[in-house]
Amino acid sequence: MIDHILLSEEAISARLDALASDIDRAYEGRDLRAIGILKGSVFFLTDVLKRLKTPVSVDFLQVRSYSGTGSSGNIQLVHDLSMDVQDRDVLLFEDVIDTGLTLRKILALLSSRRPRSLKIAALLKKKLPENRDIVCDFLGFEIGPEFVVGYGLDLDENYRNLPYVAVWDPTR
Ligand code: IMP
Ligand code: MG
Repeated sequence: MIDHILLSEEAISARLDALASDIDRAYEGRDLRAIGILKGSVFFLTDVLKRLKTPVSVDFLQVRSYSGTGSSGNIQLVHDLSMDVQDRDVLLFEDVIDTGLTLRKILALLSSRRPRSLKIAALLKKKLPENRDIVCDFLGFEIGPEFVVGYGLDLDENYRNLPYVAVWDPTR
């Protein structure tokens, strides 16, 4: 079902080097709170954080929005943060911005807790009209609308541990 590799391990690694430098520059002299959206962002988050010089603490939250290859549009908070974000510089880590529904909901939730700043780091953003309003401060790659797996991205919990991002084709 794997059609072709879209982003190789080497391409991801090189892009993360650049992203980490951008993040270090943006947060110079600050303490960062990295928040991973479980589970897809875990690979991306840990690989970026290992490259940072900025002091950083980590927390996670989990929402449920997807089943199979289609967004349900119905987002549930499954696991909340363990720490308060008030007055903190928060950087949210997401695996992929598809329709943007998940991120819009999480941004609204976290803004209401009054962080000092709230920015987004995403490994992938799909080029779609639905998500054009979402400004991604630190973006790995812009991709097409195809369904992808690997490097944290799953299809019904499979393929997350692939070291690359691949296009999944149900017709193969
Ligand atoms: P959104 O709410 O439509 O932006 O979808 C965001 C969530 O859907 C992501 O965090 C992923 O878990 C999942 N998702 C969206 N597109 C893909 C994909 O191509 N592969 C795997 N998961 C995806
Ligand atoms: Mg998923």
